[in-house]
This record gives sequence, C-alpha cells and structure tokens, in this order.
Amino acid sequence: MNFVDIIRKKRDGFELSKEEIEYFAFSAADGSVPDYQLSALLMAICFNGLTERETLDLTNAMARSGDMADLSAINGITGDKHSTGGVGDKTTLIVAPVVASCGIKIAKMSGRGLGHTGGTVDKLESIPGFGTFLDSDEFISIVNECGICVTGQSGKLCPADKKLYALRDVTATVDNVSLIASSIMSKKLAGGAECIVLDVKCGSGAFMKDEKSATVLAEKMVEIGKGAGRKIAALITDMDVPLGHNIGNSLEIIEAVETLKGNGPHDLTEISVSLSAKLLELAGKGTFEECKGIAMTKINDGSAFEKLCEMVSLQGGNEEYIRNTDLFPSAKFIYNVIMPENGYIVHMDTAGIGSVCASLGAGRMKKEDVIDSSAGIVLRKKTGDHAEKGDVIAVLYANNDSLFESAGQRFLSSLKFGNEKTEFKPLVLNTVE
Ligand code: URA
Repeated sequence: MNFVDIIRKKRDGFELSKEEIEYFAFSAADGSVPDYQLSALLMAICFNGLTERETLDLTNAMARSGDMADLSAINGITGDKHSTGGVGDKTTLIVAPVVASCGIKIAKMSGRGLGHTGGTVDKLESIPGFGTFLDSDEFISIVNECGICVTGQSGKLCPADKKLYALRDVTATVDNVSLIASSIMSKKLAGGAECIVLDVKCGSGAFMKDEKSATVLAEKMVEIGKGAGRKIAALITDMDVPLGHNIGNSLEIIEAVETLKGNGPHDLTEISVSLSAKLLELAGKGTFEECKGIAMTKINDGSAFEKLCEMVSLQGGNEEYIRNTDLFPSAKFIYNVIMPENGYIVHMDTAGIGSVCASLGAGRMKKEDVIDSSAGIVLRKKTGDHAEKGDVIAVLYANNDSLFESAGQRFLSSLKFGNEKTEFKPLVLNTVE
C-alpha cells in the first residue's frame, strides 16, 4: 500500500477503506511511515473528516495496534474515566482514588498535554519517581494490589494513539471530533475496563466549543463503547472557565490533593464528585444521588486521599510529596497579573489561558519539549468575580522570567471585563447514556 495515495485520497475527500485505515494505524505504531506523512494525513482528516465507519475502524485499529489489556485476572468490577481535555482539569487525580476507595478497580490509561490542555501523565510525572512507563503486566499487578493504576501509553498499550496524539499536539490537528473520539475510545477499549465514564468538556477551554458539538462527540464515544459491550456514560461539563484555580503540572497535583482532603474549590469538587458518582452508578453502587453521597463520604473520611498515596507509592513515586505538598519545588520567578480597571471578569478565553500556561513551560511547543513541572498559573479571580483596579487577579510561575512580559499581556487579552456579573451556567450541562 502506498501512503502517498492514502493521503491524496483523504485530501480529495474520499472515504478510506478499512485496510487503508489499518495501514495508517499500524504504521503509526511500528514507525514505518515518517512523521511528516502521518501529519499530512492527520491534516487531511481535519479538513475532510472521517465517516462513522472510518471512525470505528480507526478506533479498533488503534486499540489493536498494541496489547489489549486483559483485566480478567482482576477481582471485582473495573472502571475507567477519561476527559476530552480542558484547562486546570485535574479530575482524574480525584475521581480515580474516590472510586477506587469504593472498591471499584481503576485501570486507567492517561494522556499527556494536548494543544492548550494539560495531561494527567505530565501532572503525575511532577511527583519524583512516579512511573508512567508501565506495560500490561505491571499495570494489572498494581490494579490487583491497590485497586488503582494510572499509566501512560508508554508501554505496549495503544502505540498508534501514542504516536498520533504526540503529532496532533504539535501540528494543530487536535480538534477534530473523529480523531478525539477514536483517540479516547481506542485507549478505553485497549484498557479493558467494564464501566467507563467520559467527561466531555464544552466551552472556550475545550476542543468542543458548544454543547451541540460536545453532545455529538459524547454520543459517538458512548456508541463506540456500547458497541464494544461496555457500560458507559458521558457527562458534558462546563469548560468555559478553567477548572479550579491552579493550572500547570505540580500546581494541579497540589490542588487535587487539597480537593481530596475536602478543601478543594467548589467547581472542581462538584465536577469530580459527579463523575465519580456516575462511574459508581454504572458499577451498580446505587442511584446517581446515592453515589454522590458515597463519593463525598470517601473524601470526608480521608480514604480517597489514602488511596492516592498508595497508588503513588506503588508506581514508584515519593508519597511524601502528596502528604506534604510544600515539598514540590516552586518556580524561581513569579509575576502578578494586575486588574486594569474596576469591574467584573465577564469572560475568559480559557484556551488562550491554557496556551499562556503552556508558553511558561507547562506544555509543549514541539514533540521533544520537556515539561517544566513547576511552571503554571494560579487564578485569584475567575469569570463572575469582581476586582478593583490594581488587584492581583492571577500569578504566573516560570523558571525563565523573560517569558513573563508576553505571557502577562496575552493573559490579560484573554479576559473581558465589564460592569455586570455574568450568570453562572450549571457545571454539569448534560448526560449522555
Ligand atoms: N484526550 C485524548 O486522549 N485524546 C484526544 O484526542 C483528546 C483528549
């Protein structure tokens, strides 16, 4: 098969055959096609889309591009969770231990930062020693031992998605509904869990900017999951505003730990509890409302926090950093962003804020870039908050202070100010089951 013909066929708007889609996925996995040709095909897909059939074929091919985890050796119900990506979205670090502390086995494969969004694997790697390069056997043995494991795709699981994900991040080919659906669902199918909750983000900081497109994505993924025999549901949640206050890798671990100790911000707590409850409901633990109560209890009695400590330790991480988050090194430099006028923040371009955060070192501009764990942003004010001229509305953290001038300006131009308080939307906008 000739890869140039496949690129040309998609460029000209034709449907690719199952064999061509498989050739694409398998050669991404084995490295036999160069990055520039894979990137060209990704761009052609962004322009011309994939049909339902092509999306399903790509999902299955990527899922089969490496090992399929066999979770049959795990006692009990297995669960998994995935977000379509947002800014300040550290819900996995909360949902996974909450649900695991209820006895559901969490076998989760996570991603790195993508575009303007952060990734759980990058966040976890800010914990010294934490291992995200696990193969299927290690993955399963950790789930068996403590009921929870969050791994990257560095082992033999879903290598095609691992390759394409990294290329999409740096070639502006992320926000295509079929590429997102197949990327997420290939990992969920290969990961093998029976119950899956999806967090489909919607708004200025999400890949899906409005509820309609988020619903299309949610329905596509739920359908793929059901077709594969999984119990699956998606919550469509607000990402018009960053989630919580901290954005950036170790800053997000710190905020997740606070949330697991019951001291988290309201939005992060509510979305995390809702996602946990939906997963618990799928696993047969009760109604959604009952499961919300169970999730809150696991936060309030400290068992979810202890579960995170256990997982960190079994994955080689230094648990002391979770018990005492002051151990995380702080960035060398800080920069205060100042409110330019009296009034309310009426809108945040959340993707813009995610990009500012990445430019401080928290994300990648090129595939090979190394993440700066301590770089990031702490928001003091968000949409709907009032501030006086001269107030500090955000603090930027970086290890290179020459980045601040442009980052500070770009941060401010991501905000809109006004005299009227913005009406709040619900945090959970819809559920697709
Ligand atoms: N998360 C993924 O795993 N893949 C995407 O394409 C987007 C978010």
